[in-house]
Amino acid sequence: MAQEGESLLLKRAESIANDLLSIPKEEEILIVSHLDADGIAAGSIMLHALLDYGANPCLRIVKQLDMGVIEDVADSPSKFVVFVDMGSGQKPLLQKLEDKNKKLFIIDHHQPEPPEMESEINPHMFGYNGSNDISASGTAYLVAKRISSNNPYTSQLAIAGALGDIQDRGERASLVGLNKAIAVEAESKGLLKTKLGLKLYGFESRPLVQCLANTIEPYLPGLSGDEGACLKFIKSLGIDPVKADGSWRSQADLSNNELRTLLNGIIKYLISQGLSSKEAESVVGTLYIFPNEPPDSPLRDAREFASSINACGRLGKYGLGVSICMGDRGQALEELKQTLQEYRKTISRYLNWIQTNNDSIKILPYVQAINGGTVVDDRMIGTIISITYSTKPFSLEKPIVGFAVSSDCIKVSARASPNLVKKGLNLGALIKEAAEKFGGAGGGHNIAAGAQIPIGREEAFLQYLNELISKNMGVGEIHAH
Ligand code: C5P
Ligand code: C5P
Repeated sequence: MAQEGESLLLKRAESIANDLLSIPKEEEILIVSHLDADGIAAGSIMLHALLDYGANPCLRIVKQLDMGVIEDVADSPSKFVVFVDMGSGQKPLLQKLEDKNKKLFIIDHHQPEPPEMESEINPHMFGYNGSNDISASGTAYLVAKRISSNNPYTSQLAIAGALGDIQDRGERASLVGLNKAIAVEAESKGLLKTKLGLKLYGFESRPLVQCLANTIEPYLPGLSGDEGACLKFIKSLGIDPVKADGSWRSQADLSNNELRTLLNGIIKYLISQGLSSKEAESVVGTLYIFPNEPPDSPLRDAREFASSINACGRLGKYGLGVSICMGDRGQALEELKQTLQEYRKTISRYLNWIQTNNDSIKILPYVQAINGGTVVDDRMIGTIISITYSTKPFSLEKPIVGFAVSSDCIKVSARASPNLVKKGLNLGALIKEAAEKFGGAGGGHNIAAGAQIPIGREEAFLQYLNELISKNMGVGEIHAH
């Protein structure tokens, strides 16, 4: 199936590219994409390609595709609209735009709803899994390179987008499927280097203390964002963090023994914070490096690139995220560094709040939840549950759900562990069913999903989801504790 699927997928990419190329150049093409790393990267890939071709594109980043966005798009002067990283799961909403004679395109990787549209490309429609074979950025890249082949850097954005969506689910945190094919292509053009290493921020070039403190993915509870704690931690391992001349030591200054001590120390520390040994050991994995970015840049390591644009999106700095993807550095890079600091601080503030507010945590037999209420920004709740999922008191043996008050509804975010997905759990389908039961809307992937539900229905939604999961998994498959 994969081979036949691949040729059909590429044919669809070609036909969508041709349709976009046939739009008169003076017509505005509105690209609408999602605020996370994959969404910002995917939207920027389309922006690069259409600008290179000389078309007239305009990119809007949104929290989610809801009625508010549809109304704005309906009122916009653009006749041509490209939904990226969204659309396949929201077909009924799009009707209003078709009624207004808008010509719609969908470039997505979420679980699709029928009917399939001719101007829609989604890996699920061709036998691929959009949660690990290819992201929205990868899918956009397949279309974009058929519009303009002038811009080789779009393959880097495709890789960053996939890593932002945690699609590195192959052995040793490597990309698989079509993502891997894109990585191999980028590597052959000198745009990417891969190797095994510690997935710590700037591990090869930065002082150890900064490496630990600046690492966001994986989040190191108690260390990320806190240089003082990292200094203490390194000393506690018997490693001197400074050289004889008083300057900071980095990886290159450590002996092999010290490196081993550091690695073992980090793994033990993560286990002490409640991570399973498998999770903790995942700090070692495949590194994806962009050789054209300077060694001390947060954009050199593709995972940090993804965290950086994710931080922009989650903090509402969409323009900054897009300009980084479009190649702006200089002042934009300075702003990005500040944004990353703010992002780390925001995450640790929320984590502290959760720790001191046990009432925000609810553990049911088949699902567990954090209610961020009005404290946690609705754009950050997804990030917060992803980080806390592998820490105490949560368990990777059941899904985790987060709630946050949005302007006129409750934003729901949900995550499942790879192990649950292997057992057959499809979080996207269950979240959709539960959201619709309470008059909301939802969907996503087997491993990560989201919804909007009416305010006040959080408890009922959670109980219903608990029931759905227990039926879906079958008693005994998930440990109910
Ligand atoms: O819209 P989209 O598919 O891009 O979003 C998926 C979201 O779920 C991303 O923000 C990604 O980081 C998150 N995710 C996660 N854990 C996973 C898979 C995805 O937190 N295992
Ligand atoms: O917002 P969050 O990161 O939790 O979203 C997880 C996944 O669920 C994303 O891929 C997002 O696009 C998807 N989602 C969806 N429908 C919704 C809300 C979220 O498909 N109504």
